[in-house]
Amino acid sequence: MTFHIGAKPGEIAETCLLPGDPYRARWAAERFLDAPRLVSETRGMLAYTGTWRGNPVTLHGTGMGMPSISIYANELIRDYNVQTLIRVGSCGAMQPHIALRDIVLAQAASTIGSPSSSIFREMRFAPVADFGLLSKAYAAATGPVHVGGIFTSDTFYDERTDLSDQLQRHGCLAVEMETAELYTLAARYQRRALAILTVSDHILTRAALPSAERETSFADMIHMALHAAFA
Ligand code: ADE
Repeated sequence: MTFHIGAKPGEIAETCLLPGDPYRARWAAERFLDAPRLVSETRGMLAYTGTWRGNPVTLHGTGMGMPSISIYANELIRDYNVQTLIRVGSCGAMQPHIALRDIVLAQAASTIGSPSSSIFREMRFAPVADFGLLSKAYAAATGPVHVGGIFTSDTFYDERTDLSDQLQRHGCLAVEMETAELYTLAARYQRRALAILTVSDHILTRAALPSAERETSFADMIHMALHAAFA
């Protein structure tokens, strides 16, 4: 047990899929895993461990934002020896050719400041995805998928319109709130990480995916994540 995870030693698999929403962890565990078992519910952050095609997998909620995912990823890596961490979440598209429901694979994640930023002093560290996971997830896609840089923001209700203009000009595909810190921790501890993101809203058009459709997209991401980890 750690400060924020109640699982006993051995109850967390070496491969973790990380949705922001803890109820998504339960939904995916019941739908995709064999013999899923609740292994942690500290602060309502549900975690389930089961198997997929005989491979042990844990689904663990992370909450929203870099400070929250940082807590769970740190403890999963350092206390439970997790080797592969795949975020399955949502993002806001920043380019006109990207549509609602499309999938974005985050090749790199720019940020203004993550919980880890200060250790790099004046350097701008470039957090990147694990190439093996990225290429396998890409191969497992069954619908439109985009690969490129994203922006990990520290705010959902963002008033900085000039910032999003600059990001768009520089080809940034989408915005979300967790990946830069996840990739930085994976780099620090030599683990594998990837973020698979469904476009839930569009920054340019302000269109948003109805919540009923988010479930289907979520299933597609879990499919890609499991194939990336084990194919
Ligand atoms: N996650 C999903 N949509 C987002 C947005 N528009 N901004 C930040 N994070 C998001």
